[in-house]
Amino acid sequence: MRALVVGSGAREHAIVHALRRSPSVAEVFAAPGNAGIAAAADVLPIAADEIAGLAEAAEDLHIDLTVVGPELPLAMGIGDEFAKRGLRLFGPSRAAAEIEASKVFAKEFCHRHGIPTASSRVVETGDEARTAVDEMGLPIVLKADGLAAGKGVIIVKTDDELDQALSVFFSEKRFGTAGRRVLVEEMLSGEELSYMVVSDGTRFVPLATSHDYKRAKDGDRGPNTGGMGSHSPAVLPAGSGRAVLEEIVRPAIAGLAAEGRPYRGVLYVGVMMTADGPKVLEFNCRLGDPETQSILLRLEDDLGALFKAAADGQLTVRNLSWRREAVACVVLASNGYPGAVQRGVPITGIEEAMAQKRVVVYHAATATGSDGNLITAGGRVLSVCGRGATLAEAVKTAYHGVSLIHFDGMQFRTDIGADTLAKMETMS
Ligand code: AMP
Ligand code: GLY
Repeated sequence: MRALVVGSGAREHAIVHALRRSPSVAEVFAAPGNAGIAAAADVLPIAADEIAGLAEAAEDLHIDLTVVGPELPLAMGIGDEFAKRGLRLFGPSRAAAEIEASKVFAKEFCHRHGIPTASSRVVETGDEARTAVDEMGLPIVLKADGLAAGKGVIIVKTDDELDQALSVFFSEKRFGTAGRRVLVEEMLSGEELSYMVVSDGTRFVPLATSHDYKRAKDGDRGPNTGGMGSHSPAVLPAGSGRAVLEEIVRPAIAGLAAEGRPYRGVLYVGVMMTADGPKVLEFNCRLGDPETQSILLRLEDDLGALFKAAADGQLTVRNLSWRREAVACVVLASNGYPGAVQRGVPITGIEEAMAQKRVVVYHAATATGSDGNLITAGGRVLSVCGRGATLAEAVKTAYHGVSLIHFDGMQFRTDIGADTLAKMETMS
C-alpha cells in the first residue's frame, strides 16, 4: 500500500515510523510533516486542515490508506470528504468525531447510553456559571465545549480561582467559539488513566496501556499542556481495564453505531477511577500525543494492515501483539510552553541521541533553518523515547538521550515514570 499520514507532530512521526515497519506498506507520504518526518517520508506541503488539497493529493498519488493524526481535520470532516471520493481513510466521520469536538455532545451522549461520567451543567454566561457553581459547590471543573488543543479545562478550587477562570472564559473569551458553551463539571478524584481502542464501527481491539503526563511541571504541577511525557505499559488499578471496556468503551461504540455515527478510528477515553468505578473525563477521536510515541514502539503487528482493516469495517483481530518491554517518552518543549514561545532556536545533539542503543527521537515542532540546520518551530519540539526491559531502564535510557540534546530555553519534566515506579515499589 501507499500510505499518507496527515499531521506534523511527534505522534505523526511515530505513525510514519510504524508504517515504514509495516510489511503491508510500500511507501509513506506525509502532509505537512516536519523536519524529522521529511527524513522518513515524502512530505507534501499541504496543511492538515486543507481537506480538499489533501484529498486531491491522495487521488493524484494513488494513496491506498490515509491516516489522520490530529483532531482538527477529523472534526472538520476530512473523513466525509475522503469517503465521498471513494478514498480509504483511517479516522472517524465528522459526526463520529463530535465525541471529541463537543464536550456537551459527549456528555449528553454518555447520559443517553448510561455511560458513567461526572455530573455537569451547560452555561453560556459568567452569571449562569456562577449560579451553577453556587449550586454545585467548589471545587469544580470548567471546560470549553469545543476544541482547545488540550488547554480548555480549568480546575477551580477557590473563589479567587473562580474569578480568574470566569474572566478567562467569559471576558477574555480565550477559547473563542470553542468557549461559547462551557461545561461546569463536578470534580472527580481518584486515579486517572487513558484507554485507547481501534474500532471498525462495531468491533474494536484495545491498544497497549499507557500513562500520560499532562501538566507542565514536575509533580503534576503547572498548567495542563498537550502532554509532556508518557510511558507504556501503564500500571492500572486491578480490574480497571475490564471495567473501562465493559462500562465505557463497549456502550460508546455501540451507542455511536445506534445513533447512525459508526465510529471507525481510534477512540481514546480519559477516565477517572473513582470510588464508584470508572467515569469518563473526556473522549478523543484520535491517537493520544505523546502516548502514541511510547505505544507504537512496542507494536509487533502490521500497523498499516490494522488501520486498513478498521477503515474497511473488517477488523477481525481480537488482540494485538506487543513487545514485552517498556518505553518511556520525554517531551522537550520551548521556553514558555504552553504559553507563547520563541521559534527559530538552533537544536543540537539529535544524531548523538539517536546513535544510542534503544533511543528513538521523534520530531514535533522542528524545521530546517536557512543555513540547513535544525531549528525549533513551536511549543513541543521533540519526543525522546527510551526502550528497556523494565520501565526503570526505559526511563533511564530516555533521559540519557535527553542529556545529549540541547536548544536554548529547552524545558522538560524530570519525573516521567517516577510515580509509576514508586507505585510498583509499594506493590512488590
Ligand atoms: P480533559 O481535557 O477533559 O481530559 O481534561 C484535562 C485534565 O483535566 C484531565 O486529564 C484531568 O486531569 C482534569 N479533569 C478533567 N475533568 C475533570 C474532573 N471532572 N474532575 C477532575 N479532574 C478533571
Ligand atoms: N495526551 C492527551 C491527548 O492526546 O489528548
